[in-house]
Amino acid sequence: MPRMGHTLSLLLRSAAVIGVLAATPAMAEPTVEVLHFWTSGGESRAVNVLRQDFEKAGGKWIDAPVAGGGGDAASTVLRSRVLAGDAPNAVQLKGPSIKEWAEQGVLAPLDSVAKAENWDQLVPPQLQQVIKSDGHYVAVPVNIHRVNWLWSNPAALAKVGAQPPKTWEEFNAVATKLKAAGIVPLAHGGQPWQDATIFETVVLGLGGSEFYKKALVDLDEKALTSDTMVKVFDQMRTIRGFVDNGFSNREWNLATAMVMKGDAAMQIMGDWAKGELVAAGKVPGKDVLCTTTPGSDGFLLNSDSFVMFTAKDKDRTAGQMLLAKLMLGEKFQHEFNLTKGSIPARMTLPMDGFDACAQKSSQDLKQAIGAKTLMPSMAHEMAVPGSVRGAFLDVVTAHFNSDMSSKDAVKRLAEAVTLAR
Ligand code: BGC
Repeated sequence: MPRMGHTLSLLLRSAAVIGVLAATPAMAEPTVEVLHFWTSGGESRAVNVLRQDFEKAGGKWIDAPVAGGGGDAASTVLRSRVLAGDAPNAVQLKGPSIKEWAEQGVLAPLDSVAKAENWDQLVPPQLQQVIKSDGHYVAVPVNIHRVNWLWSNPAALAKVGAQPPKTWEEFNAVATKLKAAGIVPLAHGGQPWQDATIFETVVLGLGGSEFYKKALVDLDEKALTSDTMVKVFDQMRTIRGFVDNGFSNREWNLATAMVMKGDAAMQIMGDWAKGELVAAGKVPGKDVLCTTTPGSDGFLLNSDSFVMFTAKDKDRTAGQMLLAKLMLGEKFQHEFNLTKGSIPARMTLPMDGFDACAQKSSQDLKQAIGAKTLMPSMAHEMAVPGSVRGAFLDVVTAHFNSDMSSKDAVKRLAEAVTLAR
């Protein structure tokens, strides 16, 4: 066979290469539309850490924020979008609702990422139960928030010679003094999830973690109708006397700002409040103190996680897997949690560089796991299905905003919970 000319052979070979290239599908461009409710100052900084990480890794981020602390507004948007056949690709979701959505068959399994990234060794068993459905990973946790924190302004407390109160009795005494001195004792936002946040810390503080579990997790009727529950509502009524007139419907971050500025002395809120302190350049544990809510003998757990709704488009599925991988990565878990106020969900990550409040959270978490006093937050959707949580929120808020007696509240609560189950 005559030898082909060198140039011709090169040409033919490059044509063949071009042919192969043309037949190869274009590389996927990882893309995700992310539905979340992180819109306060500290939360937006945290979400930017995530977005930048994703974009640096070549992803395209489409932001779908829904304003409203606690995420109740975001849940409504999610339901209507799924019904309309337009589910977002990545969605901030937690607790029992992860399994509820998984049972609808609409969530993408994350087992391949989980296996490649060794999630079994990284995620605490208590969280694995939450993010798995039928033995398959369907969500990826980004953090561990503690709910039972009392934030206080040391200068405001000093005006009445007080320290952060350790029991509810002490709290009432300190708050009474503050009120007499013309200082708002408790910064609060009157929204059902914020009322429920205070309520569950009172349940823990007055009843202890065993009682908390019986009443708010197991929904034991005896516990729900007990004298302790009556006392919980009595304490809620007392607390109502310690909030200012402008409390109704105030966003939680504005309440945090009141404590930062010294316009109020204390706030009961999870450690996302710390994200606001950090964003404002304050030193947590010094400018604003972090102590556990009065009488706490445990750790009220709230963990944010993301699920991926099954997508057909290959750019979207590539984006979902990339996001899931990054979210439990060391770099992301460190930077994100420093900003968010939480501690890492990746339990093997060293706590270097975290502030005093985060160090306490991490130690108390370990202690609570050992002592079996780690309890899922009812108010933050970790403990009970949405319908039952709704029943709690309705009654707690109705009681807080009326002159309903504690006995009536307990009766209504037991009835509402039974109906909702
Ligand atoms: C979420 C936090 C969020 C907070 C206020 C909580 O339920 O877990 O991530 O910062 O609500 O929006």
